[in-house]
Amino acid sequence: MQSSLSQPWLFPDAGIRAKNRAVLAPLTHNMSLEGGLVSDNELIWLEKAAAGGFGTLIAAATLVADGGRCWPGQPALLNEQHQARFAEFARIAAGHGALALVQLHHGGVRAIPGLNGRSPVGPSAIPAGGRYPLGVEALTDEGIEAMIAAFADAAVRAYGAGLHGVELHAAHHFLLCNFLNPEVNQRSDKWGGSAANRARILLEIIGAIRARVPRSFLIGVRLSPESYANVQGIKLMNQLEITRLLAAGGLDYVHFSMGDSFKQADEFVGESLLALIASQLGGKLPLMVAGKVQNARDGDALLGLGADLVAVGSAAIGNPDWVKRQSAGQQLIPAPFSEQWLLEQGFNERALDYFRTVPGLLL
Ligand SMILES: Cc1cc2nc3c(=O)[nH]c(=O)nc-3n(C[C@H](O)[C@H](O)[C@H](O)COP(=O)(O)O)c2cc1C
Repeated sequence: MQSSLSQPWLFPDAGIRAKNRAVLAPLTHNMSLEGGLVSDNELIWLEKAAAGGFGTLIAAATLVADGGRCWPGQPALLNEQHQARFAEFARIAAGHGALALVQLHHGGVRAIPGLNGRSPVGPSAIPAGGRYPLGVEALTDEGIEAMIAAFADAAVRAYGAGLHGVELHAAHHFLLCNFLNPEVNQRSDKWGGSAANRARILLEIIGAIRARVPRSFLIGVRLSPESYANVQGIKLMNQLEITRLLAAGGLDYVHFSMGDSFKQADEFVGESLLALIASQLGGKLPLMVAGKVQNARDGDALLGLGADLVAVGSAAIGNPDWVKRQSAGQQLIPAPFSEQWLLEQGFNERALDYFRTVPGLLL
């Protein structure tokens, strides 16, 4: 790659090295088998991305506890059978010198009642109606402790599978994002109120994982920087305060899901959102970003604005060999992608059904 993306990256506290700065973003594909077993199709697709040169692969949002499911074909890390399939992923990534991570997820207020046989849970209750037909149940203290244990258990299974680390999904209005969001988290106990209280669940999960695995195991957190679409209450300054707490709490990287990495900050007119985040972080925590990276030139621009690692989403769906193509100066296949092309990349009909719901992905 004639690009700064080809430089290796050392996660300083873990002492783990990624061979380049290009990351496969977590991408839900809906291809896991009944109950959340990783399918052969997923492994074929992940192997293509590993062979295609990504230095780090983050496997899709993976369920850590019953009740949190958001997609029928969502992978899970709830038991030894699930772990064994992730061991295959670890083996595949290692064969190509890539780091293998899995994103740990609970849907929170967005969990789908029909997939879980119950109403969703969140930090605070929401009455039934509109977006939440069954309403949302507030987690009890014991429920929160059980959730912390569930995330930690899934991380220990990821470690047992031979993965290099986990990314805690605290973006996109899912459970951990719900706790951080003062409009969704209305608690007045130790899990709500101040930023430190709202971040407590995340910090306790990190602590619980650290207590059970060696320090070389990577822990990242994915955050939304701002409100987006119909999700309100996510404010940049709050998210940065949370990030500072996480930096002090033994995290290996923060992953901002920018939507558009080149956008200006909503609340600071004329300022690059990414440059603001990077300057506020001040190098205290490695910074990964995702959103609208089409090619290596875009990735270089983000490194120039202060990112350390650049995650590629949609473009990688049709170009799992994104890194190799860009290194060789070859054209990328542009989205929207043909169904036939995506079937050749390892995706199946279930994945195509899901991708059809994402604007601009399929022809
Ligand atoms: C099909 C699809 C599935 C996704 N699944 C996940 C996911 O499992 N977890 C997550 O945090 N983000 C998910 N995202 C968001 C991507 O990781 C990424 O942040 C987003 O697509 C923006 O990057 P892009 O412009 O390069 O696509 C998904 C996006 C797409 C298009």
